[in-house]
Amino acid sequence: MALNKKISPAVIRRLPRYFRYLTDLLIINVTRISSSKLSEKMEITASQIRQDLNCFGGFGQQGYGYNVKFLRKQIANILGVHSHFKFVIIGAGNLGQALANYSNFQKIGFKFAGIFDKNLDLVGTTINNKKVMHIDTIGDFLAYNKIDIAMICIPANQATIVTENLVTLGIKAFWNFSPTDLKLSNNIIVENVHLVDSLMVLGYKLLHKSIPVL
Ligand code: NAI
Repeated sequence: MALNKKISPAVIRRLPRYFRYLTDLLIINVTRISSSKLSEKMEITASQIRQDLNCFGGFGQQGYGYNVKFLRKQIANILGVHSHFKFVIIGAGNLGQALANYSNFQKIGFKFAGIFDKNLDLVGTTINNKKVMHIDTIGDFLAYNKIDIAMICIPANQATIVTENLVTLGIKAFWNFSPTDLKLSNNIIVENVHLVDSLMVLGYKLLHKSIPVL
């Protein structure tokens, strides 16, 4: 689904949450929900929900609320669930192996296509039915396989050089776990994931729990 207007990053970040809640509602056979009920469940104001969904055309009906199945399908289309994105993992260490073995990516439309490392002890071993390939062979692999995303699971000091090479080989989107800011050209999409940042926020909240957060 191609959108023809700018959407704020905050709205985009809430979409997966809507998708998750609506999926849970469908599982328990809820077919219809008002924005106020959805708001209670998600702890987002009803007006925020309406504003978010209005960015994409609304999807609700006055006096009826939202049809859960329909709304979930619209959000799935916006997020590209079932777009059959293919990804490779760069780095077959602890994190790379964990991601390779995580089977839920497939359920939301992301297909594991290959895993690469430079460590000869890992090359040739099998992780989730795929043989780890040597990073030096990635050019050949990408020439024959259309890959949308590279997940970066290598040390920070390797991440820049490796991702720059992947950009020259045609990769346009990175899910970056490496603790470094990748400086890539503007047309390249980078989504950083830093679990440690989230953990530190948890630590902050625990430490200062007597001070209300605004
Ligand atoms: P690890 O040491 O188990 O695995 C790293 C792998 O990268 C090794 O197998 C190594 O041979 C490979 N590698 C190194 N240079 C390479 C290159 N040029 N090409 C291909 N492969 C190469 O480390 P682990 O625990 O898997 O962590 C990987 C990275 O992810 C680290 O930078 C770590 O800090 C980061 N990390 C980030 C998290 C996050 O929330 N953002 C969570 C956990 C780890």
